[in-house]
Amino acid sequence: MPGRMDFFAVVSAMTLSTFPVGAQDVGNGSELAKEHCLRCHDISVDGKMKTMPPSFASIAVFRDYDQIRMRIMFPAMHSIMPAWSQMFSNTEVDDLAAYIVSLE
Ligand code: HEC
Repeated sequence: MPGRMDFFAVVSAMTLSTFPVGAQDVGNGSELAKEHCLRCHDISVDGKMKTMPPSFASIAVFRDYDQIRMRIMFPAMHSIMPAWSQMFSNTEVDDLAAYIVSLE
């Protein structure tokens, strides 16, 4: 029976494997965020916890890359967040998600 630490090692290995480090352009994500996200979200590295909408720094703490990517593509029901999937390419969504992850 694997120990607790083994379990976490496996989980983090799985999480990392879905995040192709280096494929995204964090700088471009930052530019896109300034242009399109700043008017609602705090996109800075020292964004506060428990704000609405959530700061990008708090999103980085609570969500992983794939979850962030999915929420950019598919905002929560009844959210006022625009449907970015109709505006951005996959690469742009990758860059935005990478930028948010980089704030953790
Ligand atoms: C019109 C205001 C508005 C703009 C502009 C906006 N958002 Fe949001 N966003 C929200 C609100 C409100 C929520 C909370 C409800 C939800 O999850 O959809 C949210 C939630 C999110 C979440 C999910 C947070 C979680 O709980 O996991 C992500 C990720 C996100 N936004 C990314 C972005 C990105 C990237 C951009 C710019 C491309 C952006 N948002 C622009 C209003 C906005």
